[in-house]
Amino acid sequence: MTTLKLSSRLDGVAESSTLKMNAAARELAAKGHKVVNLTAGEPDFPVLDPVKDAAIAAITGNFNKYTPAAGIPELRKGLTRKFEKDNGLAYTPEDIIVTVGAKQAIFNFLLATINSGDEVIIPGPYWVSYPDMVKLAGGWPVTVDTDAKAGFKLTPAQLKGALTPKTRALILNAPSNPTGVVYTRGEMQALAKVLEGTDVWVVSDEIYEKLIFEGEFTSFAALSPDAFKRTLTVNGFSKTYSMTGWRLGYAAGPKPLIAAMALLQGQSTSGANSVAQRAALAALDLPDSAFKPMVEAFRRRRDRMAEIFSAAGNFSFVKPAGAFYFFLNVEQAYGKAYNHDQVLTGSEDLAFYLLNAAHVGTVPGNGFGADAYLRLSFAVSDSDVEEGSKRIVDAIAKLR
Ligand SMILES: Cc1ncc(COP(=O)(O)O)c(C=O)c1O
Repeated sequence: MTTLKLSSRLDGVAESSTLKMNAAARELAAKGHKVVNLTAGEPDFPVLDPVKDAAIAAITGNFNKYTPAAGIPELRKGLTRKFEKDNGLAYTPEDIIVTVGAKQAIFNFLLATINSGDEVIIPGPYWVSYPDMVKLAGGWPVTVDTDAKAGFKLTPAQLKGALTPKTRALILNAPSNPTGVVYTRGEMQALAKVLEGTDVWVVSDEIYEKLIFEGEFTSFAALSPDAFKRTLTVNGFSKTYSMTGWRLGYAAGPKPLIAAMALLQGQSTSGANSVAQRAALAALDLPDSAFKPMVEAFRRRRDRMAEIFSAAGNFSFVKPAGAFYFFLNVEQAYGKAYNHDQVLTGSEDLAFYLLNAAHVGTVPGNGFGADAYLRLSFAVSDSDVEEGSKRIVDAIAKLR
């Protein structure tokens, strides 16, 4: 029989480590174990009622048909108001595309801008999907390791050092998944300055915009007219509005780029789901006070995790200023053994040890380009934060 082949495009593309660990934790729980699952990449809060009501009204009102590939006009218009109010950005509806999650916005951007061998700079630790998405687009991810001592912030010198004639884009994500880093306006301005005079795009992934505990959020595009022209501002409804499963994101940038992304979208997904778009319009009308309780809960849980790991004495971390992840340095566990001779060599080993021995699900740092770390989500109940963190401390203390 002939061999049916798959595309070489998939060579070297890895499975998302977040999804892998989440699946392993769920499997163990399904066997009846009390698993504390700290792998979640989504809020543990419900969708707010006005958003649900708008979706129900869209369904009962038969809002069922295909929508324009770039999104329904009223949502694109609504997003111009959001950008104006929250970010001081003056976009027109034609500068905006509605996508199937922020992820599709980034993917469309890469397909629309990257030629074979083009380089994309990604500060690490990075969101697991960026390098693989760049590879799928035929590009080359150039990861630049930031330093925990510098608060995991990319420095202007690092950015300058990574630029080559092949650099096509920089992907910046703040607040960051997995580190929670938030840049000051001055720090961002210094990065923007490095790019002046180049033809490098910036993707500013602002999906955790509203989940900030310290500092102030700055949109990269709002830094200067030069920054505005080179930036694709990416955002979505998944995190702030707990709408991960509704798959709705958006991006704003120069018209030719948005038109190219819409062309791609028209030939792939045909655009986002009609009902979710109506619901998103209602979400945009919610005042920030609507999700304040969620932000306060995340802050409280973050503080509790910090207390527990500080009290344990032998862990180091940079307290996250935003998002809902705690990036914990666990190097002290490497080289130690469990069951007498099972030596832990890295974050994946440790994550599986913690899952099997202590029934706590974590995400290994290697998928984020930082093997010395584990990512712990605090988008879980206060009691799971308490119990999960203590189980990690106790299980690591047992290693010899
Ligand atoms: C940094 C970052 N960007 C984008 C996304 C994707 O969001 P969406 O659900 O809108 O596709 C995530 C989700 O985990 C994320 O952490």
